[in-house]
Amino acid sequence: MSLDPSQPPSRIQASMVIRNIGQLVTVAQQPVPGATGPLQVIEHAAMAIHDGTIVWIGPDNTTEPLFQTDEATNTQDISIVDAEGVVVTPGFVDSHTHLVFAGDRAEEFHLLRSGVSYAELLAQGHGILTTVQATRSASTEALLGLAQARLETMRLHGTTTVEIKTGYGLDRVTEEACLRIINMLMAQEKTALTPQTEMRIVPSFLGAHVLPQEYQDRREAYIDLVTEELLPSFVGLARFCDVYCDREAFTLEECRRILTQAKELGYQLKVHADQFSSSGGARLASELGATSADHLDYTSDADLDALREAGVVATLLPGTSYTLRLPYPSARRLIDRGLHVALATDFNPGTCYCENMQMIIGLAMSAMGMSLEEALTAATINGARALGLQDQIGSLAVGKRCELTFWSLSDYREIGYHFGINQVRTGLVQR
Ligand code: NIG
Ligand code: FE
Repeated sequence: MSLDPSQPPSRIQASMVIRNIGQLVTVAQQPVPGATGPLQVIEHAAMAIHDGTIVWIGPDNTTEPLFQTDEATNTQDISIVDAEGVVVTPGFVDSHTHLVFAGDRAEEFHLLRSGVSYAELLAQGHGILTTVQATRSASTEALLGLAQARLETMRLHGTTTVEIKTGYGLDRVTEEACLRIINMLMAQEKTALTPQTEMRIVPSFLGAHVLPQEYQDRREAYIDLVTEELLPSFVGLARFCDVYCDREAFTLEECRRILTQAKELGYQLKVHADQFSSSGGARLASELGATSADHLDYTSDADLDALREAGVVATLLPGTSYTLRLPYPSARRLIDRGLHVALATDFNPGTCYCENMQMIIGLAMSAMGMSLEEALTAATINGARALGLQDQIGSLAVGKRCELTFWSLSDYREIGYHFGINQVRTGLVQR
């Protein structure tokens, strides 16, 4: 990871060197020279970047001969960033969000607090369909503006990669409009913003979120629409296909049909699985080789084992338990069974109106039995795994992309301890 002894120092080419990093929390999956603990932390570190790729990581006091005093290196071209002794981690990878929607559901949040359940809310005509109505009535400009503002909030709280699902359109026009908005966000972030503020965005199609009102008596016709028309025409606009497999949404067989077609068309797969009941969604995710299965509140031991054997990432979303006032699933149970556990916000107007991964980490530690080290791993490299991006992002190592979060902290162990405030100073993404 640090200097390759067969390579003379003058051969290290870098466009940027970040120096004076108090603690570099690499979350590296291989031992790093000079690093300690499960997160492979290097004290007093430096990092060099070229073309957006990390080319060197090591102790700060060894950087001079490598990047500054060698004549073969044109020092003029290297920009030196002083991290001022703070903690630097990989940027958060928020691998599950429903970011594009209009309206809010504050009323529901308070009804939940008065004892009404999520299922009762849906039966009373609240819930996802309320947001579908608001989203269908909103203009593209309005939806885009709302999504941009939410992304900016996420960025300010340390997130550098965001998966964004559709699922509040549920007709051809609005689902396509939402996917195009997500794709616009991807393009805009690359051109209009400075390289320092870029975010990586991963688009997902969640046509099977809930049965839209106009199909209430024609379930099969909606599954036909999603499977035969929408999936083929959205190839290239979405990387993942997700389904909501639960008693309030779609059956196991309906989800199997949609995901099988999606897989054939080249989509990667995700499943909202076992959130309110043991729906078989996790089992389906392992059968079809999904990248992740998300929620997992009611997943049996056997189905967890199947997920592990199939290499499916288990994504936990503690913000939903907070909002719905439901028991939190035990992260310990999953980790002890050997699963890769990711944490994400599930940002949406109904079950988790929160953009902040620091809050999610805090909930995971206080209510799901995760250590700080496990929670940070889940919010970075395992989030990257949940998007199939673990070779590019999620940890800091030579060859990986430079997508970092700078904290206003000198010791990472303050994360989750000093709580309820934003401890992130800034993000840094180099393309
Ligand atoms: O992931 N469970 C399904 N979908 C969302 C909730 C969306 C909503 O309530 O608007 C979730 O929790
Ligand atoms: Fe969700």
